[in-house]
Amino acid sequence: MSVRLLCLSAALLYGNSAFAATDAYTYANYDAVKVSHLHLDLAVNFTQKSLTGFADLKLNWQQQATGQNDVYLDTRDLLIERIYAKRADGQWQKVPFSLSQRDAVLGSKLSVSPGFQADTLRIYYSSTEQASGLQWLTPEQTAGKTTPFMFSQNQAIHARSWIPIQDTPAVRMTYSARIQTPDNLLSVMSAPNDPATARDGDYQFYMPQAIPAYLIAIAAGDLQFKAMSEQTGVYAEPYILQASAEEFASTQAMIDATEQLYGDYRWGRYDLLILPPSFPFGGMENPVLSFITPTVVAGDGSLVNLIAHELAHSWSGNLVTNASWRDLWLNEGFTSYVENRIMEQVFGTDRAVMEQALSVQGLKDELTELSANDSILHIDLQGRDPDDAFSGVPYTKGQLFLMYLEQKFGRDKFDPFVKQYFDDHAFQSLDTAAFINYLDRQLLQKYPGIVSLDEVNRWIYQPGLPEGTPQPQSDAFNQVQQQASSWLSGAATLDSLPTSNWTVHEWLYFINNLPLSITPEQLAELDAGFNLTQSTNSEIAHAWYLLALKTGYQEIAAPLEQYLINIGRRKLIIPLYKQLASTPEGLAFARAVYEKARPGYHPLAQGSVDALLR
Ligand code: BES
Ligand code: ZN
Repeated sequence: MSVRLLCLSAALLYGNSAFAATDAYTYANYDAVKVSHLHLDLAVNFTQKSLTGFADLKLNWQQQATGQNDVYLDTRDLLIERIYAKRADGQWQKVPFSLSQRDAVLGSKLSVSPGFQADTLRIYYSSTEQASGLQWLTPEQTAGKTTPFMFSQNQAIHARSWIPIQDTPAVRMTYSARIQTPDNLLSVMSAPNDPATARDGDYQFYMPQAIPAYLIAIAAGDLQFKAMSEQTGVYAEPYILQASAEEFASTQAMIDATEQLYGDYRWGRYDLLILPPSFPFGGMENPVLSFITPTVVAGDGSLVNLIAHELAHSWSGNLVTNASWRDLWLNEGFTSYVENRIMEQVFGTDRAVMEQALSVQGLKDELTELSANDSILHIDLQGRDPDDAFSGVPYTKGQLFLMYLEQKFGRDKFDPFVKQYFDDHAFQSLDTAAFINYLDRQLLQKYPGIVSLDEVNRWIYQPGLPEGTPQPQSDAFNQVQQQASSWLSGAATLDSLPTSNWTVHEWLYFINNLPLSITPEQLAELDAGFNLTQSTNSEIAHAWYLLALKTGYQEIAAPLEQYLINIGRRKLIIPLYKQLASTPEGLAFARAVYEKARPGYHPLAQGSVDALLR
């Protein structure tokens, strides 16, 4: 049978479903046509807060697409000027297009109708000030006060707010770019960056590995580079360059450890970009160049699990990618698991177990507030914006599921399975069903009688935590618990606690587990002894402020205000706003602070806090 006949009969056999698009968060007809290469030619315009220029989309028509010529793309708040299509014979011609009405979650469908199967589309366009995936900082909003800064955050579906694109993790493309900026700025992208590039406001990039749209990233600002090893380095504004390079000096050791566990790092260099404090996440795994919040530059390396996490995505997520946002747990659960294996390898078991215990405690707290549906790994997003369904479930429940498999099968069987999984799906996207199928064939059936498919399905398709969920036990935390109890009951004085030996993790455990019945006097005693209100560790300060708000300890008000104004990382600020909003006085305070803080926040953080305080 000819290939064409084969495809035809397969199409008849399976109807449309065998080839149907399954990502509900894209307008793209990617079953018919896939973008294989993207070229961007954009000018960064800080006055208009706009990226302006064109995008070339090289198209790869799928065999079953006979008779289809239209290309549907994702956009949100873009100004589309004109579109050309290149024919197979190399001739360009201007072609008709239309933009559908804006959907609050999906944006506007861009329909391009050349009347023939175009080889390439060239779209002239500009992004607008509304772009949900871009933040524009004035010089005054940066630490250096002299130079503006801009950066993108595409995951989950914000690429479409600055690129007309097939914005689905099911489609991978290579990309290239020419980016023009004011000539005192350096631009970097999620592609190999040359540390020695001439700083002339005209930058070229070429990303040879195929990646989904959510991993395309750009930033521009007063950036300097400092090498940490031959393969790794930091880009940052001068004020924090040296401190970042010191903080993250373990990055190379982390790469070496991950390669030992799971095979080659396939992306060449691995650099970090330290963003302004308004960056709404802890980190974002943009390939070759992870984007990192400055709030983890703590001075003592205590929060570098974030680097292990973003690095781990170079295997789980960037190499092997979730096919849709319902499958996010495949990205984040695997990454949290790998992150912790890296931490164990580089910093030892005690620290790794403490980090597990903190995450699990956080998850259990969260589960008391989440709906049953939202506690399912293969989540039903129910048409919501994927950002609104974000929780610790894909991360920590996903990690616990993999720890469960590790414990059941033993590392001698489980580690090679994970390594093979990355190899067998490298540069591909897969969904939860495909993963279960692979797991069944390559692990469950290979070593029968250890874990059943039913148990796997329970983990993935049912709410909550199943029986037999791993329970991380940290001896260090158990001791902290005992010491805290004897102080609280009056059996021991504060000075007698061995706090000078406590790590940041032990402090976090201590603060998180103090009872809400703690008295203002006891809180004041702690504060006087350890200066917690003035803590420069962003996680400790967060935990302390949260406890203070829950127990009515007033001394934190002024530093809390500064914290909320200076930091835009959602994980650190949202729980504080939420707690404040639970009392009338708190809400009034929160609204007053937010009025000052809002202009400095990223659109995503603004959206979250707007929803809370309205
Ligand atoms: N990829 C995520 C951030 C993300 C997830 C953005 C979903 C948008 C939608 C990143 O790798 C991440 O998980 N960051 C965490 C790190 C933490 C778990 C160590 C963060 O930002 O806090
Ligand atoms: Zn992640």
